[in-house]
Amino acid sequence: MSQSLTDLPLVTVQKTEKKSQESYRVYIETFGCQMNEYDTELVRSLLKSRGFGFTDHGEQADVVLLNTCAIRENAHNRVYAHLADYKALRSQRGLVIGVLGCMAQNLKKDLFDSQSMIDVLVGPDAYRRLPDLLLQAIEARTRGLAVDLSEYETYEEILPVRGGGVNAWIAVMRGCDNFCTFCVVPYTRGRERSRNPQGILIEAQQLAEQGYKQITLLGQNVNSYRYQDWDFAKLLLSVAEVPGIERVRFTSPHPKDFPPALLDAVAEHPKVCNHIHLPAQSGNDRILQLMGRCYSRKEYLELVEAIRRRGDIALSTDIICGFCSETEEEYQDTIRLMQEVEFQSAFIFKYSERKNTIAGRKHPDDVPESIKSERVGRLIEWQRDVSARKNQALIGQSVKVLVEGDAKKSKNQWMGHTESNTTVVWNKADRLVKPGDLVSITVEDGSASTLYGSPTSS
Ligand code: SAH
Ligand code: SF4
Ligand code: F3S
Repeated sequence: MSQSLTDLPLVTVQKTEKKSQESYRVYIETFGCQMNEYDTELVRSLLKSRGFGFTDHGEQADVVLLNTCAIRENAHNRVYAHLADYKALRSQRGLVIGVLGCMAQNLKKDLFDSQSMIDVLVGPDAYRRLPDLLLQAIEARTRGLAVDLSEYETYEEILPVRGGGVNAWIAVMRGCDNFCTFCVVPYTRGRERSRNPQGILIEAQQLAEQGYKQITLLGQNVNSYRYQDWDFAKLLLSVAEVPGIERVRFTSPHPKDFPPALLDAVAEHPKVCNHIHLPAQSGNDRILQLMGRCYSRKEYLELVEAIRRRGDIALSTDIICGFCSETEEEYQDTIRLMQEVEFQSAFIFKYSERKNTIAGRKHPDDVPESIKSERVGRLIEWQRDVSARKNQALIGQSVKVLVEGDAKKSKNQWMGHTESNTTVVWNKADRLVKPGDLVSITVEDGSASTLYGSPTSS
């Protein structure tokens, strides 16, 4: 059973040693995917309601929390590097260090025991215990570990503390039951469970009232969303109907069970963005089977065909190169799949063996690193050319852009995204434009990642 926040004693946290009213300041760094970003917002909420404060600077913090990812080995390595950065602060002035998230869940006691500088280690289903464990660590210097996975925890009534802006995420489900053989997520985030749609819709309405314009619904496999008679398409359409919300996105659907109603929603509802992220992983049937993906190359391509028949819907994907025993010929099938589909964009990864996964236990990681890197490099280069070509084909056309804020490189330029999720940058000219507006931009140039243009004259 989940514990309601109102059941918890209200503690105003104060620094005993400083004898001031100031609350303990927490600095959180987030690694990994959008689900982890969302979890950080939940953690902020849990801590805020117990009197903790926050800082944007690790050096000024009383507590540093690293919300970690375990998807590939380099995700682990980044966390070890950051931990080392805080070592001196911990011994000099008693900084409390907490490791949260998927790496905490994945390595559990091994990580806790081997890294004595970690004071608190909490997995994704145990965040309700974090405030107490932190208080004990700060005030009694005790170390705490909470890594129980839950079949029910959805943090239903916790309202995330978001960073502001135009975009917000809502996790509509947690966990994953797919057990793709390469993937650690089912072990770090446990069994699939869907949130009550009423709670999701209330959250969406509150976001609209706060001025958010775009909502991205998150789940490891959103096609599996189920709550009584609600499926994901019904949920998506209901969120799209919330007044004030201009755009709705979702990630990720799984190609093995893409429901026709979801495609209808993308193709037909004006507020559901015309973009589908559809991870292919490989274009070779033997490798797909070895990965446990439950679809063939032909089925994937048929789905792409069905999507394309419904109109101009941008596709992006994830690809893994150098999975166990992948030959050059099998890799070439992936290249051919990418040539056939011509994705708008793609995330291309080297296979990274994860302990305890099915592949980690059963299939040797036998493709040499140099070959994995070379295969990734070839595909990235090819995809860059396709993305640039697709973006340049838009020159002269007008695209609808949600204004998100200043461009990274200049405060004199705006940045936003098209419905197909391509970044657009243009000079600020009209003083009336503000973040959250939907504007028309005529494309004048395009690189692999960005469109450049100016406001369409009406
Ligand atoms: N649930 C999402 C995937 C989340 S992980 C989905 O199925 O769409 C994001 C991506 O990381 C995966 O699509 C896959 O391409 C990649 N990935 C996962 N495990 C990996 C591993 N062990 N090595 C390399 N890439 C991996
Ligand atoms: Fe991992 Fe597969 Fe689940 Fe995605 S669907 S999180 S790749 S096991
Ligand atoms: Fe996300 Fe990484 Fe966990 S990709 S679900 S934070 S393993």
